[in-house]
Amino acid sequence: MLVCIPEVLPKSEVAEFRRLMDAAEWEDGRSTAGAQSAMVKRNEQLPPDGELSRALGRRIVSALTSNPKFVSAAVPLQIFPPLFNRYAASSGHHFGIHVDNAVRGDHLTGLRIRTDLSITLFLAEPDEYDGGELVIEDTYGSHEVKLPAGDAVLYPSTSLHMVTPVTRGARVASFFWLQSMIRDAQARSMIYDLDTAIQALVERLGRDDPETVKLTGIYHNLIRYWAEV
Ligand code: NI
Repeated sequence: MLVCIPEVLPKSEVAEFRRLMDAAEWEDGRSTAGAQSAMVKRNEQLPPDGELSRALGRRIVSALTSNPKFVSAAVPLQIFPPLFNRYAASSGHHFGIHVDNAVRGDHLTGLRIRTDLSITLFLAEPDEYDGGELVIEDTYGSHEVKLPAGDAVLYPSTSLHMVTPVTRGARVASFFWLQSMIRDAQARSMIYDLDTAIQALVERLGRDDPETVKLTGIYHNLIRYWAEV
């Protein structure tokens, strides 16, 4: 399941992120890659343990955890501290096809998570660069994603994916992973569909409609049945 989350960050905050990031020192993106992905990864990253990455990352996590669509789709248990990357046309940056590491540890916080979902939060507008599409392969074929600055996409970490070469300008983004309370992707997808349907019924019939109350109960009981906390 691939879910786009619009306006995670307002444009004014994206502009502030970009100002701070433009003034920072960047490093080779291979520092956080696994053995296979290091062979196909060509980009730059903000130092993951640096104060700037951590400070901006906290703002992203706080925006996401108060975003109802994100919480509904991800049912997050632990969110990895966000990382930041840049693909510049002048350096021929791209990231070939790969699967993200199954487990990620953060040495600053000691956090260790199973990567159930990968997230890309776009920090450059689509008209700032050519290429740089995030291409995600799933059982229904391959999907190209390129969203407005401030929007995020959530996709299964089990999927093969790549970033196509940037041929003009620069693609700037934040990327990270999370462990969901619901490990099984199909169960998580049904939870999301059920929640979306309930929210639509609440709009139409109100929160105290008896059948809506019953469905809300089923939603919580399914979470209770499936959740690992
Ligand atoms: Ni990846």
